[in-house]
Amino acid sequence: MSVKLTWYGHGAQGLEVDGIKILVDPFLSDNPAASITPDRVAADYILLSHGHGDHLGNTVDIAKRTGALVITNFEIANWLGKQGVKTEGQHIGGGCHYAFGYVKLTQAMHGSGLPDGSYGGNPAGFLLTFKNGKKVYLACDTGLFGDMRLIGEEGIELATLPIGDHYTMGPEDALRAVKLIQPKHVIPVHYNTFDLIKQDAAAWAARVEAETSTKAHVLNPGDSFEID
Ligand code: NI
Ligand code: MN
Repeated sequence: MSVKLTWYGHGAQGLEVDGIKILVDPFLSDNPAASITPDRVAADYILLSHGHGDHLGNTVDIAKRTGALVITNFEIANWLGKQGVKTEGQHIGGGCHYAFGYVKLTQAMHGSGLPDGSYGGNPAGFLLTFKNGKKVYLACDTGLFGDMRLIGEEGIELATLPIGDHYTMGPEDALRAVKLIQPKHVIPVHYNTFDLIKQDAAAWAARVEAETSTKAHVLNPGDSFEID
């Protein structure tokens, strides 16, 4: 069993495991960095971390076209449910079993208001435990927080961390996050979409590898990284 993670640009990511496609924060049509269009992307599940437009993106259209189940917080699940989308509402600290494995919502330090002004609950990250026991942590939009150490205690094979600064952790705090989480592999996300979050990911990756034992992988939108 392998897990393939593809970065679609910004916070949008896709994971494929045993033929099951899990799409994360599918901001695609308005995303200048997107490597795929919403009418072509595959999804059996959609993980939505919070209500901001650059994460909600094309969730409603993709979920309706594909029939994907949207896993998100309770408040956003209700909001999406009213639009005819299939949802599973969870909340921070709570996990649920799906065909591909176990999904726990983790704390994230951020906002979550929905584009129409509706209350979007608390923002989240995701801790995925696949059937072979391998764990992937998607921090999603967040500032640095000390309890990332607790997430790291679970033994993380792969983490994706924002490095863009301005709205989320920047490179310095993302490096501190790597030190708290100690994942085997890390991929930077949520940068270079717009000028406001421009970063030198290669320089960041070099620092990660110089200062920690984590392997850092810089992807271009559309590139994939696979763990066994
Ligand atoms: Ni956000
Ligand atoms: Mn964002």
